[in-house]
Amino acid sequence: MKLRFATALETLPPYPLQDLPAIKREMRARGEDLIDLGAGDADLPPPPAAVEALKRAVDDPANSRYAFQLGLPAYREEIARYMEERFGVTVDPFEETALLVGSKDAVYHLPIVLLDPGDVVIMPDPGYASYFGGTHMAGGAAYQVPLRPENDFLIRPEDIPADVARAAKLIYLNYPNNPTAAEASREYLGEMVAFCRDNSIVLCYDNAYAEMAFDGYVPPSILEIDGAREVAIELHSMSKTYNMTGWRTGWAVGRRELIGALVRVKTFSDTGVPFTIQHAATAALRSREEWLPGNLEIFRRRRDAAIEGLQAAGYDIEAPRSTMYLWVPVPGGADSAGYARRLLTEQAVAVVPGIALGQGGEGFVRLALTLSEERIREAAERMGRVT
Ligand SMILES: Cc1ncc(COP(=O)(O)O)c(C=O)c1O
Repeated sequence: MKLRFATALETLPPYPLQDLPAIKREMRARGEDLIDLGAGDADLPPPPAAVEALKRAVDDPANSRYAFQLGLPAYREEIARYMEERFGVTVDPFEETALLVGSKDAVYHLPIVLLDPGDVVIMPDPGYASYFGGTHMAGGAAYQVPLRPENDFLIRPEDIPADVARAAKLIYLNYPNNPTAAEASREYLGEMVAFCRDNSIVLCYDNAYAEMAFDGYVPPSILEIDGAREVAIELHSMSKTYNMTGWRTGWAVGRRELIGALVRVKTFSDTGVPFTIQHAATAALRSREEWLPGNLEIFRRRRDAAIEGLQAAGYDIEAPRSTMYLWVPVPGGADSAGYARRLLTEQAVAVVPGIALGQGGEGFVRLALTLSEERIREAAERMGRVT
């Protein structure tokens, strides 16, 4: 039988760098000393409180049952407490909160919630690949706005033509930003909320890096912004903040009809985040104040090591105040894929070429601060040999 796949799937571009794990495995098998700064997946352990809670939870057979969308009330209440204490934002833990199988869960499913075929979604380019993937598979049309240094890596209302604004139902904004490490001011967020209200566009604020900030910078929640509660849904993740990428949990907060609709779709696609993981995430959130500063200090030192090393190697780069990424201009201009390939094959350093994250990412590569300071210094030195 000839398989007949959906046209949307046939035309879906490959997920960025999906062949890279195999290439890296081969290099390691050949005995090469690979320094992998590719994926945003740190080498550090989760909070001990989370590990302990997970171990305890596994012993209770009740935690082996379906969690359903409701999940663990204590996790929901801890999320609501966090939103209140950290951002001064009050959310109902049941009506205005959805538990997610990682924030990617909502990124991918929101287009199904909102789009009819041909509806437009505005998204950053470069940007997290699932903004496009979810939109495309839901039959939507992506309008990708280039994030460039000259616009401070922001999507501004003036970058969006009036007909696109009229046709759009959803916009993704992500600050602190992957991959550019850009941040968004409250004033800017206020402009975008007004733009979304004026054009009846849902604003999905992807706040996966809300806690990954340094030098006194405290990223806001979109829900702190006047008027945002009418238009916004905000995504949070346990992945990056707590070194729990593989544990797969996060949450969405925002306007209750949006949360309700997302949960309705998810009812058909997952049957809840495992209770064991919810117990662990609850414990991690409770340990935030005592555990988080030490973890951030590790990333800050890594960032400083990378910046020092890259500047010494002749790179034109300044220290960003947020995320685990450095967005490094390719020496001499454009071809990010060629440059990343040379780094990999000549120096055994893996980075993400900007072009893999969208056309707008051309001219840059992304480094993730996912290894020790020593390895990062070594990587920067090696990068100095490919200029
Ligand atoms: C901008 C952004 N959003 C969402 C995610 C998804 O994270 P998770 O599903 O692990 O919560 C990532 C992961 O890399 C990301 O970089």
